[in-house]
Amino acid sequence: MTEKKKGRVFSGARPTGRQHLGNYLGAMKNYVALQADYDCIYCIVDLHALTTVETTENLTQNTFEMALDWLAAGIDPQKSIIFVQSHVPEVTELHTILSMVTPLGKLTDLPTFKEKARQQPHNVNYGLVGYPVLMTADIVLYKADTVPVGIDQAPHIEFAREIVRSFNYRYKTKVLIEPQMKATQVPKVLGIDGQRKMGKSLNNHIELAATPEETTRRVMQMVTDPQRVRRNDPGNPDVCNVFTMHKIFSPAEEVEMIDTECRRAGIGCVDCKRRFAANLNAHLEPFRARRTEIEQTPDQVWDALHDGARRARTIARQTMDEVRAAIGLPPGARE
Ligand code: TRP
Repeated sequence: MTEKKKGRVFSGARPTGRQHLGNYLGAMKNYVALQADYDCIYCIVDLHALTTVETTENLTQNTFEMALDWLAAGIDPQKSIIFVQSHVPEVTELHTILSMVTPLGKLTDLPTFKEKARQQPHNVNYGLVGYPVLMTADIVLYKADTVPVGIDQAPHIEFAREIVRSFNYRYKTKVLIEPQMKATQVPKVLGIDGQRKMGKSLNNHIELAATPEETTRRVMQMVTDPQRVRRNDPGNPDVCNVFTMHKIFSPAEEVEMIDTECRRAGIGCVDCKRRFAANLNAHLEPFRARRTEIEQTPDQVWDALHDGARRARTIARQTMDEVRAAIGLPPGARE
């Protein structure tokens, strides 16, 4: 008997290789949890990666490493579909079709586009402008109603909803479903610099797959309350990124103890970070064990992705038949 699920989730992430704590807390943890209540489809968006030069390199390796981390963290290919975007080429067809109901000005007005255009003025490519159209195609191709993403993606989801409405209105149909954003409730995960969002490109990240020694070394580099200079200065946990992490990974009594002791200089930053490193390593221990195990047979990662693509493609083909019929495109020859 199949249990009744609340709906269909779709989310995607560009292949950035080994995942870090920011990816874990911002997306992966939530992806794993949603499997209990939703039919989930998780996609490694390799085509989207082509919009920027850095992410165009090492695509195969980065896809593999990311999938490996996802599987090790508990995304279950028996329950969910996990696949690579380019393995289901229908998405590019839908992208083209949706582009015809997309006003160009809407794309160039998006804050995400403006930001990217500022970052890479020498590479404002057509695909970069169309990024949200491809993202919309991802979601609606699988008729997903729920999209778990970080708040920075809100304009993209709103955009997707508008495109769906335009399409359905123009072709007098209901085939496409307006997706809802499910904003992930996540603490702001800063990098070890304690200032900027954790990210691989800033090299301020802590990799999930790092060894315990390497993890401890990175944790010991973390910047704490900048006002606390000497060991005997009282600290302020409210502005300390290490404390934010303790709240996520450490037992309640320990968090309370640190909160109190830091404020009266009873515990120093070195000691506090050692404790965090130990708790983090303990938390990641099952993940690492599972990752090492899966890594022994790399084929099972590709098998999971290929099987996911086959299942995704069945849904995609069905949607495309409905889309073509709704538009009135001439029917093709049967295969
Ligand atoms: N734009 C998303 C990001 O940069 C990635 C993405 C692509 C996505 N397609 C998607 C997210 C579909 C959710 C649904 O993080």
